[in-house]
Amino acid sequence: MASRVFELIEKEKERQARTIELIASENFVSENVMKAMGSCLTNKYSEGYPAHRTSGNKGRYYGGCYVVDELEEYCCDKWREVFHTDYHVNVQPHSGSSANLGAYMSVLQPGDTILAMNLNNGGHLTHGSSVNFSGKLFNMVFYDVNAQGYIDYDDIAAKLREFKPALVLAGASAYSRIIEFDRFRALIDEAAEEFHAAGDPDYHPYFMVDMAHIAGLIAAGVHPTPFGYADIITTTTHKTLRGPRGGMIFCRPELAKKVDSAIFPGTQGGPLQHIIAAKAVAAEEACTPEYHDYIRRLVENCKAMCDEFIRLGYEVVTGGTDNHLFLVDLSNTHPTLTGKHVQELLDAHDITLNKNCVPGEKRSPMQASGVRIGTAAETTRGRTKEDFIEIARRIDAIIREDLAASAEG
Ligand SMILES: Cc1ncc(COP(=O)(O)O)c(C=O)c1O
Repeated sequence: MASRVFELIEKEKERQARTIELIASENFVSENVMKAMGSCLTNKYSEGYPAHRTSGNKGRYYGGCYVVDELEEYCCDKWREVFHTDYHVNVQPHSGSSANLGAYMSVLQPGDTILAMNLNNGGHLTHGSSVNFSGKLFNMVFYDVNAQGYIDYDDIAAKLREFKPALVLAGASAYSRIIEFDRFRALIDEAAEEFHAAGDPDYHPYFMVDMAHIAGLIAAGVHPTPFGYADIITTTTHKTLRGPRGGMIFCRPELAKKVDSAIFPGTQGGPLQHIIAAKAVAAEEACTPEYHDYIRRLVENCKAMCDEFIRLGYEVVTGGTDNHLFLVDLSNTHPTLTGKHVQELLDAHDITLNKNCVPGEKRSPMQASGVRIGTAAETTRGRTKEDFIEIARRIDAIIREDLAASAEG
């Protein structure tokens, strides 16, 4: 039977095949990840957790869960293998945002203070935006980046003392440099000791890491790991991890019960077992040497493309990248161009990326003065350093042509 839906799926398939995909949070999943997502597992209700998983949990609320019990256990085991960790893992969050909501609700009360990265400097909406649950439920305070665009660890140390947060969050959506998790931990412990010495022995702030963007790099060992430093770690599964859309929460074993109950029954209902199956496939893939090689290549590609933009006269926040993305700051070099305009201009040339705020942003987030560029998706398609250099040149030519046309017009 002809269906409008399948016509539209074909249309989107064609769009994806035609365009160059530079959105830093996107990727192309394998056939097996697709197959698992489209499987009969979508038919199964399985509220709860496999019975023996967390001491004290009550198992599932429905019958017929013995197969999905095995599947969910396997998925958890595989992800622990990916990150070489004995942390507890919950694979049920429907998205990165749900994972962050569950993580906050597991250890905080509404009104508690969270110290997170300033959203203009690369933090995510769920890290305290006033239009998001995080900004509505919690008292959000922010640390900044320094004049060079790097995380300002001195600012974190000062804000820890000023605000005495219940939780400190590291992680971002648009930050191109290494995040020093060991340094965060040391700063948190140091501030806590000072409060203990000053007569508050019960002050124990949590350290949470949202590794959504860089999880694949951590899995492949090309970015320092937060395991061993953070109390709670959240991630999406669809960015550099190249799995289905979804989220996960890792935590120290002593927080397992709190995290599990914050997800179900705290903030979600029935888990998506077809997505959990696809997460397990992605975990199997992330354990392979081919995946580790892919991650190494995508970082090399990112550096090569970023260097080419700099060579062409563009300003890049921090002057480079250590990961899968970088931010082009147009405010000094192209003051008449907004990020929104460049995004739309490139869309018309089948190059897809997104506008992004830059440190010290003067425009609204809907206009923005920068664009974010990532190499995860096109590296999956096999593109090389030379290809990315060529794409940078193409983008530059399109921008030049546009500027020339508007000067004439
Ligand atoms: C750092 C970070 N955390 C969380 C999320 C939210 O993920 P989702 O879109 O799956 O809710 C994102 C999404 O881009 C992100 O960049």
